[in-house]
Amino acid sequence: METLEEKVSAAAKLIVEAEGQVVAFTGAGISVESGIPDFRSAGGLWTKYDPELYCSMDVFEEQPELFWTMAADMATMVRDAKPNPAHRALHELEKQSLLGAVVTQNVDNLHQEAGSALVYELHGNASTSSCRACKERLFTDLSHRSVAVPCSLGSDVAAAGFSEAVQNAKVLIIIGTSLEVHPAAGLPMICKARGGHVIVCNLDTSGESIADIFLQGTAGTILPRLVAECAQQRAAL
Ligand code: APR
Repeated sequence: METLEEKVSAAAKLIVEAEGQVVAFTGAGISVESGIPDFRSAGGLWTKYDPELYCSMDVFEEQPELFWTMAADMATMVRDAKPNPAHRALHELEKQSLLGAVVTQNVDNLHQEAGSALVYELHGNASTSSCRACKERLFTDLSHRSVAVPCSLGSDVAAAGFSEAVQNAKVLIIIGTSLEVHPAAGLPMICKARGGHVIVCNLDTSGESIADIFLQGTAGTILPRLVAECAQQRAAL
């Protein structure tokens, strides 16, 4: 049984050898250490807000106030959140030219605030909504609730091009996601189908079965160690 250190070293070797053809794919777990709960863990958002009610377009059409109640609660958490060492570690990998892009399911803007330059947001960004009539993108202002639909609920996915990034990746680093929803759940297989390797970092065992290397623990602890190991291996080249 390999130790975590041995796995981190093997993961770093894959990343360094990929020479920048690496994509990080993140979910709510990467922001938990920034104070934003995830969805499906104990005490997560879905234990407080039933997604069938609060995150359904059909229900939103009839009772938009349900979504906006949850949005106001999330907005407070997101407003006070700052990038944590995991977000900063991905920016560091990008600075070392070892990471090409971040694909995220999160809407909290923390990757951008940490400095990541290329971030594909699959579910939009909490800071913007789009007008239900003309689709114009607006800054999310809870007073817009009568005319705006949150981008994360609309069909507008401002992440065009993410799948090409994943297809061309030699390594996909999956961090803090249960891989419960699509397109998330399908990304590891897209990468593997083209001969890529999948590294998973998670607090629970989500993703362990599809991982070439599974790093169990908190992202805020593991990612900085992974980045330091990459730097060490690059220096030794
Ligand atoms: N470090 C690493 N992983 C963590 C941490 C942490 N500190 N904290 C939690 N996790 C893991 C959990 O173990 C879990 O596997 O992050 C994962 C979070 O899973 P979910 O709560 O399902 O969040 P996510 O995968 O992002 O959900 C995807 O589902 O409900 C929709 O739109 C919503 O974008 C969301 C999508």
